[in-house]
Amino acid sequence: MPARLVVLISGNGSNLQAILNACKGNELSASVVAVISNKPNAYGLVRAVQAGVPTHVLPYEKGTERREYDSRLAGLVAACDPDYVILAGWMRLLTSAFLDQFPNRVINLHPALPGMFPGTHAIQRAYAAWQRGEIDRTGVMVHLVPDEGIDDGPVLATQEISFRTGEALEDFEKRVHAVEHGLLVQTLRNQLMGTN
Ligand code: GAR
Repeated sequence: MPARLVVLISGNGSNLQAILNACKGNELSASVVAVISNKPNAYGLVRAVQAGVPTHVLPYEKGTERREYDSRLAGLVAACDPDYVILAGWMRLLTSAFLDQFPNRVINLHPALPGMFPGTHAIQRAYAAWQRGEIDRTGVMVHLVPDEGIDDGPVLATQEISFRTGEALEDFEKRVHAVEHGLLVQTLRNQLMGTN
């Protein structure tokens, strides 16, 4: 039986696309059973519709208790009966009101190495740190999300990325995303085969 994946997104969804492609190409023995976005205009929703995957939008309304939002989100996800919940560019911190419903089943992708540049704009911040001579490499990681730590948790996989002299930020970003697409699919494959 293919594993059931629910993918949470907030934007472009290029990593979602990598997962969809891998499922379609039988590279992953899985099927994306739902895509959920907190942003109604996330392009990833278009990608999901094009792939025939059901979508849900759950916008966060200002003033809502975070735990209340997360409980509603958990209900939506649980109704899809997922084996894994993949945070693929999901840009909201999740509280235990969500995470405790899916122990060891929430997987996050972050475009930096463990402990480096948690939060938003990690690629740009790493590039700026390199330009200041503070670091000479960065990378991407895939990890489990056990608690409310930001882009932190048991690491499933990392891949280092070296900087290239003279490379523009836009080109560097493209290179990071290409690494992410490969590492995310590879890590999910390992996880599903129980080799991690
Ligand atoms: C990716 O670079 C992902 O690693 C990052 O958001 C981007 C989403 O791109 N996630 C984080 O920064 C999490 N803190 P995508 O929408 O094209 O997949």
